[in-house]
Amino acid sequence: DKHQFIMGIETSCDETAVAIVKNGREVVANVVASQIESHKRFGGVVPEIASRHHVEQMTIVLEEALNEADIEMKDISAVAVTEGPGLVGALLVGVNAAKAISFAHGIPLVGVHHIAGHIYANRLVTEMVFPAMSLVVSGGHTELVYMKEHGHFEVIGETRDDAAGEAYDKVARTLHLPYPGGPHIDRLAHEGEPSIKLPRAWLEDGSYDFSFSGLKSAVINTVHNTEQRGESIRPEDLAASFQDSVIDVLVTKTVNAVKEYKVKQLLLAGGVAANKGLRSALEEAFNENKEIELVIPPLNLCTDNAAMIAAAGAIMFNKGVRSDLALNANPGLDI
Ligand code: KG4
Ligand code: ZN
Repeated sequence: DKHQFIMGIETSCDETAVAIVKNGREVVANVVASQIESHKRFGGVVPEIASRHHVEQMTIVLEEALNEADIEMKDISAVAVTEGPGLVGALLVGVNAAKAISFAHGIPLVGVHHIAGHIYANRLVTEMVFPAMSLVVSGGHTELVYMKEHGHFEVIGETRDDAAGEAYDKVARTLHLPYPGGPHIDRLAHEGEPSIKLPRAWLEDGSYDFSFSGLKSAVINTVHNTEQRGESIRPEDLAASFQDSVIDVLVTKTVNAVKEYKVKQLLLAGGVAANKGLRSALEEAFNENKEIELVIPPLNLCTDNAAMIAAAGAIMFNKGVRSDLALNANPGLDI
């Protein structure tokens, strides 16, 4: 059989995910078991609870993925797994599942960087054309990554404090919205007006780095100050103003970067890529510049999933990259 099936496994945070990708680009199974309900009452992900859920869900999700793809383990060419970054106990569950599959079935093993996975979600949409730039915006990362070719990642800018998603989640908590707050702020923002003046951290001239902690603090202070004065503020307007500031900085720096690096594509990646305001602001900005193709994955490929890990794994596997059974979870892995 000439088709290549790559299995992806992702357990870096609070989603237990197994997917199967055919010939590098076609998703034939994409199973995600979310634990959000178990973490909600704590207002964030509790690492120990996450690990336990992964252990409970792993074999179930794995079987479901094989059923969905209607193939057997013997049809799998390689198993790709997120080795980091992420929560160490959570990562270990996926890494050990992948090692067990590799050992028991004699299937090659490939360790994948979580952010490489997020970027490669774009290859499930369209073929990548180089040089490319990726704007990675997730709960743990905010970076601009320049790609000269497959598997080559050069971080040209990153956050100096909070990640974009982290800022969304903290602002959401201040507004008493449930975890994860990103989608709630996004929804509220569309019902409000960006009428509240909030800071934008441009940093030094020409810098592609980001900073969102000042903005986050400004939102928190605004809420506290109005409460203290016995006044009220429309949460919709605050959400709209916050979102406006985040998007303004992200889009402006991204547009500058793609021009300076003369890339052919801009690949949007990470959970915050699901943000409606960000998606439409980028579409508007890139509409004027037809030489650069804007690629935006569908919502279910933006947030954590294993199809993106299989997509990145396929490229690595076909380049000859292999991990051995000494593969370990690496919570602080660099891209
Ligand atoms: O990539 P991801 O699923 O997990 C990490 O690797 O971090 O990203 C999760 C983050 C959370 O902070 C969540 O609030 C945010 O993505 N997020 C959003 C939206 N959907 C998810 N942020 C803003 N707007 C959204 N629509
Ligand atoms: Zn992620």
